[in-house]
Amino acid sequence: MVSNSTSGSTQRCRVAVTRALPPQAMERFRARHDVWVNPDDRVLSPDELMQVAARADVLVVTAFDRFDAKVFGALPPTLKILATHSVGLEHIDLEAAKQRGLPVLATPDVLSDSVAEMAILLMLGAARRAQEGDRLLYSGQWKGWTPTQLVGVEVTGRRMGILGMGRIGRTIARRARGFDMAVQYHNRQRLPPDLEQGARHHATLAGLLAASDVLVLAAPSTPETRRLLNAETIAQLPSGAIVVNIARGDLIDDSALIAALTSGQVGSAGLDVFNGEPRLDERYKSLANVFLQPHQGSSTLTARLAMAQILLDGIDSMLAGRAAVNRVA
Ligand code: DGY
Repeated sequence: MVSNSTSGSTQRCRVAVTRALPPQAMERFRARHDVWVNPDDRVLSPDELMQVAARADVLVVTAFDRFDAKVFGALPPTLKILATHSVGLEHIDLEAAKQRGLPVLATPDVLSDSVAEMAILLMLGAARRAQEGDRLLYSGQWKGWTPTQLVGVEVTGRRMGILGMGRIGRTIARRARGFDMAVQYHNRQRLPPDLEQGARHHATLAGLLAASDVLVLAAPSTPETRRLLNAETIAQLPSGAIVVNIARGDLIDDSALIAALTSGQVGSAGLDVFNGEPRLDERYKSLANVFLQPHQGSSTLTARLAMAQILLDGIDSMLAGRAAVNRVA
């Protein structure tokens, strides 16, 4: 149970972490709490999750641990806080959490720079044929420079369309302005001018798609956004557009995107997230015009430490009876 620490007013409690965090982040947790961490570093089964929850005051989980209404119903009453080491929340039924009265903490804001950097890497990797360049070198097939070698697309001055202009979307927009790109966006609500920073709002998705030389998916996975990029919407993009996904794989209908990458309707794609991770549609691997990363958006030490810190601070606030800035339910 929660107990008073001997060093100061911080309460030490039992924190169970379902996946190992980088050592520096684990150290921070251990300095403040009595920590159990999954020694196998694999996704726990629902039964295992319950066993772990039974021994913890705070459960630190990832986007790959599912908390639906059934799981909330079975959680032990001793559990005080659910803390997800993610900005994405699609794995948690927030309504069920509220019904159960279990506070949920997440990691908003602190990973936006890292994820935005990944979006730029994916855009450039797709535009400049980075996968083909890698293969040419690593296969030993490179015969030397020629003017026709791997001619790509210059993104400078082109239109970047951002679907989902939240914190991550706006951070990507700032980076895009560094490439003199004309930022466009579609959001549920138009942003105030200080957040828009000159970006052009499109009231409809179709309007955004038609104006996107580079389309960046930065929206959460919700019933409204799932399979939002499909055959019909892809046809609304300018021919040869670049598609970037740093959000969630289920925003894309893979068969439709693969068909468009094959026909040239989509010129290239940079993807960091996939349907059914860690699996991905195998057909992507045979396409030259894709640049793929294994869900790495927030994987920098800076972001990982900040994610740990915001969770720790939130846990401390909640234990002290204060509001936590990163509480999402
Ligand atoms: C996030 O924070 O949501 C990342 O995608 C990791 O799950």
